[in-house]
Amino acid sequence: MAVLQKEERYRTLIELGIALSAERNHDRLMEKILHGAKSMCNADGGTLYLVTEAKDGLRFEIMLNDTLAIAMGGTTGQAIPFPPLRLYDDQGQPNHKNVSSHCALSGATINISDAYDVDKFDFSGTKAFDLKTGYRSKSFLTVPLKNYEGEVIGVLQLINARDRRGKIMAFGPAITPLIEALTSQAAVALDNQRLIEAQKNLFKSFIEVIAGSIDAKSPYTGGHCHRVPAVTFMMAKAACDATEGPFADFSLTEDEWYELEVAAGLHDCGKVTTPEYIVDKATKLETIYNRIHEVRMRFEVLKRDAVVTYLEGLISGEEEPLALKARLDEALAQLDADFAFVGECNVGGEFMAPEKIERLKAIAQRTWTRTLDDTLGLSMDEMRRRTGDEPKPPVVESVLADKPWHIIPHEINVDSSKYEAAGFKMKPLENRYNLGEIYNLGIGRGTLTNEDRFKINDHIVQTIFMLKALPFPKTLARVAEWAGGHHEKMDGTGYPKGLKREEMSLPARMMAIADIFEALTAADRPYKKPKTLSESLKIMSFMVKDQHIDPDLWQLFLSSGIWKDYADKYLRPEQVDEVDIGRFMPKAAE
Ligand SMILES: [Fe+2]
Ligand SMILES: [Fe+2]
Repeated sequence: MAVLQKEERYRTLIELGIALSAERNHDRLMEKILHGAKSMCNADGGTLYLVTEAKDGLRFEIMLNDTLAIAMGGTTGQAIPFPPLRLYDDQGQPNHKNVSSHCALSGATINISDAYDVDKFDFSGTKAFDLKTGYRSKSFLTVPLKNYEGEVIGVLQLINARDRRGKIMAFGPAITPLIEALTSQAAVALDNQRLIEAQKNLFKSFIEVIAGSIDAKSPYTGGHCHRVPAVTFMMAKAACDATEGPFADFSLTEDEWYELEVAAGLHDCGKVTTPEYIVDKATKLETIYNRIHEVRMRFEVLKRDAVVTYLEGLISGEEEPLALKARLDEALAQLDADFAFVGECNVGGEFMAPEKIERLKAIAQRTWTRTLDDTLGLSMDEMRRRTGDEPKPPVVESVLADKPWHIIPHEINVDSSKYEAAGFKMKPLENRYNLGEIYNLGIGRGTLTNEDRFKINDHIVQTIFMLKALPFPKTLARVAEWAGGHHEKMDGTGYPKGLKREEMSLPARMMAIADIFEALTAADRPYKKPKTLSESLKIMSFMVKDQHIDPDLWQLFLSSGIWKDYADKYLRPEQVDEVDIGRFMPKAAE
């Protein structure tokens, strides 16, 4: 019998070792350790403590007692009401009176056959407990949990070993090494879990830092990288909660929630490559600063030229002063009007109808005379864009121009085959940027040229490149797909891959909605007021109609009240107006 019992114990030990190394939930791990140890020596009760973060105490993790039907901590849902056992007193002296703290401090296993016969340790608390409950705490086996560095990270205490008939006995010498073997495996499992947790926390903080730094790039889109995950999570939660309809079977495991968190947090990480002046390009002539000042000075020069012409006319006396003055006034008024028009074009608030473009081109015909060398004081980069055979001053210049050196070429290694190979439909344009003045002032809508727009859209390509370059573990394998699809449209007209609805995962489609909703309700451009909630939802309902966003998810977005919860939490009170969601439901929109 005894041999079999021994075999059973070894088997339990091996099985526990395997189970412990596979367990990733902290509470369940605690429970497995205590349950396993208890059953190996048929103990009536036990407690598992972990050393506190400050390393000054032993925190109760789980407590079990069969006779008294006590089960606290672990996954029981019953909190343990006791404060941690102190390892040191107020004077900083080690507490060797308590058997558990002595075990933690010394790293030694302590086997006590009857607590009532021992003087070395203070069992007064145990005795008081026994008096109150009628229990008899007798044999104690207290074993340290040592990690691979030999550091004690916890203490396992077993109480009242029982023989086969249930009679309380001492913990035999044969069991001690087995329990020690178990606690050492438990310590390794616990340490592993802590390392994984620490790594996860480090990565989470890293994502936070990236998201925060992207948000910090623009005061206008600030908070986007934090709010998109919030909306995405709300949607995933609503889909998990759905018991009928298209999401009835949708669920996410703990690992998948983490995967979603990583994907949403990094969904715009490629924006680290987008220059701020493009992200926030507030006027058409803006590069690093608004070049309207440069243009205005040219008009000032022209006005002085007009005055000079007038004065020269007066001096020569060939014409009537009154006629000269009238011509001057007219010239100045025209220059004022022309510059006002250029200024208005620069703001980009209104559509540039063909007649406006014509007027712009006509104004650009005006000339002024440059007498200074315009290659003086240039940077190496600017000089590289000059041919070197520019005419020497004086040079007659147009007041607005598209010059060859306004074209900024790509850096050497921008290779469109890289885009093609990755399955991207969007391709780099011929030039990296075009700073041409007429070219920029003639932008039809908004302030961005095609090149600027490409650079902005390119953030998603960079996001995918960056995420693909990271050696994600298997549990995070879908991060790039989930994060990289938020600018795709259900009908395949989105970017960068032109994916269709059926080619996209649900999390990617959720993120697309989250991204649009956040951007619409935020003050996304420097010259625009933030939209109200109903305006934003209305625009999105048109996007559903145009097959840009997923209709099922849109229905869920509306019916679950995510829009309202989000608005209450994140929008300015003046944005949160009255909304009749019935109008925006896909069925009503048909
Ligand atoms: Fe994006
Ligand atoms: Fe985004």
